[in-house]
Amino acid sequence: MLIREAKLSDAAGIARVNVDTWNSTYHGILPPHQLALVTVPDRVRYAREVISSPDKGIVVAETENGRIVGFSAFGPERVGNLPFKGELYVIYVLKAFQRKGIGTRLVAAARNRLMEMGIHSLMVWALHDNPYQRFYQSLGGAIVYTRTLEIEGFKTLERAYGWWDTAAIFQEEMYRNHML
Ligand SMILES: CC(C)(COP(=O)(O)OP(=O)(O)OC[C@H]1O[C@@H](n2cnc3c(N)ncnc32)[C@H](O)[C@@H]1OP(=O)(O)O)[C@@H](O)C(=O)NCCC(=O)NCCS
Repeated sequence: MLIREAKLSDAAGIARVNVDTWNSTYHGILPPHQLALVTVPDRVRYAREVISSPDKGIVVAETENGRIVGFSAFGPERVGNLPFKGELYVIYVLKAFQRKGIGTRLVAAARNRLMEMGIHSLMVWALHDNPYQRFYQSLGGAIVYTRTLEIEGFKTLERAYGWWDTAAIFQEEMYRNHML
């Protein structure tokens, strides 16, 4: 599995992973009209915008035959008044490829890019009901904020996991086993 920075030509593959994994993750958690809000054309636009932005980026996981099966988008923290400088905007790995260390490698690659940009603290928002939060806990993330999210009349809670020092996220042994 290759972990690499995304190019504009990856936008469609990224969007497909985004929509497929969004549906498999939130089916039964979010109402159907909410699930339907995330579409391939919209996500293609999003991916292009992030890839083109000088202070943001996307890293992808690509199989040997060139299929994108996971990605993570990252950049400056978006609320603006929180003490974390960097934010993982989104991370998705297709269901069939989960629990193989790909998510860990994507976080590591995003972390490395952010560090190159001079950003050494990181946070990520997760829906309160998201069953995958143990992933962030496994990387040593601590809950640092909660907030209410309201989209089109649907209210839910979000939690933020944070890392004050991204240099400390991965232990030396994990680094050797999983990193770029
Ligand atoms: C969350 C996600 C990105 C993790 O990627 P991944 O490639 O599956 O993660 P890894 O294989 O690197 O997992 C690392 C560790 O995290 C923990 N973990 C990951 N998924 C977990 C799960 N579903 N339940 C419990 N622990 C989990 C485990 O400790 C795991 O180590 P182990 O497999 O040796 O036990 C991926 O599962 C995903 O895309 N989920 C659906 C979308 C989503 O929820 N994204 C986050 C939105 S906030």
